[in-house]
Amino acid sequence: MSSTRYRKANSASQASRSSSQPDTAPVGSHRNEQEVEEEHPFLSILRTVILILVLNFLLSYYITSTFFWNYDFRLLRRRYAAFAFLKFLHYAKVPAITKSVLVHVLPESSPIFASTFFTFTFPRIFSDDTLALYNGSDPTLPIYVGLNGSVYDVTENAMTYGPAGPYNHFAGRDAARAFITGCFTTDLTHDLRGLDPVGSQADIARWKSFFDKNARYWYVGDVIHKPITGPPPSECQMPKWHGR
Ligand code: HEM
Ligand SMILES: *[C@@H]1O[C@H](CO)[C@@H](O)[C@H](O)[C@H]1NC(C)=O
Ligand SMILES: *[C@@H]1O[C@H](CO)[C@@H](O)[C@H](O)[C@H]1NC(C)=O
Repeated sequence: MSSTRYRKANSASQASRSSSQPDTAPVGSHRNEQEVEEEHPFLSILRTVILILVLNFLLSYYITSTFFWNYDFRLLRRRYAAFAFLKFLHYAKVPAITKSVLVHVLPESSPIFASTFFTFTFPRIFSDDTLALYNGSDPTLPIYVGLNGSVYDVTENAMTYGPAGPYNHFAGRDAARAFITGCFTTDLTHDLRGLDPVGSQADIARWKSFFDKNARYWYVGDVIHKPITGPPPSECQMPKWHGR
């Protein structure tokens, strides 16, 4: 419809301008064909958007060998989506009252909804005892690793941290000391007394950065320990290992 209008207007102006020249058929008919093909503006926008998307995917594939710039679609995974939503509430500074309705009242009125979205708050606060629940024994719960007060979700690597995994001793507790010494039976504690302070802080920082950067893990909150009492753990003989 609109193309007909353009064509009419154009041929009218062409006629008035070219009154002194002979209206030669080849030029005029060629131009008219083009004008008939002119499409609705929406379609040309759509075409441009699709073109940009395709170019984007190709560029992404060229650079990263994946079509989505290495994005792992973790937001499509339920547990991470719930976590991301709560983190969003936290950083969006959603008023405390709204947040507490979302986190406490709603779950009680709608347990199914709650189990989907409100598995935990962010940042979640653990005691040593509540953290212990997440050692992988209960398959319905996620697996958490504590490290010098920070807690990481490592459920996606149950092969390593689950009940049958070689590093299950790190699950459900803060065994920062064993991360430093490698003594996986005697040093399953966050008590760092007696260790070289500079070296152990560097080791902890390195492991924290490992958990922070690993695509399968994420920080979920903090474990608040009871004050340390009693004598420090005795020195462990296992050689320190710097392979990672
Ligand atoms: C200070 C000493 C050590 C600490 C703190 C330590 C800690 C860890 C941790 C936390 C992981 C899991 C990493 C992940 O989340 O993917 C891991 C994996 C691994 N470690 Fe160690 N490790 C130590 C020493 C060793 C030694 C001496 C060996 C070799 C005999 C070793 C062999 C491995 C292997 C093969 C894996 C991969 C396991 C898997 O992905 O399932 N580690 N280590
Ligand atoms: C895991 O924690 C639960 C609850 O604290 C406990 O009953 C269970 O023995 C623990 N399992 C392991 C392998 O430590
Ligand atoms: C370990 O925890 C202590 C006490 O909370 C803190 O002061 C220190 O900065 C932490 N170390 C690292 C490397 O995060």
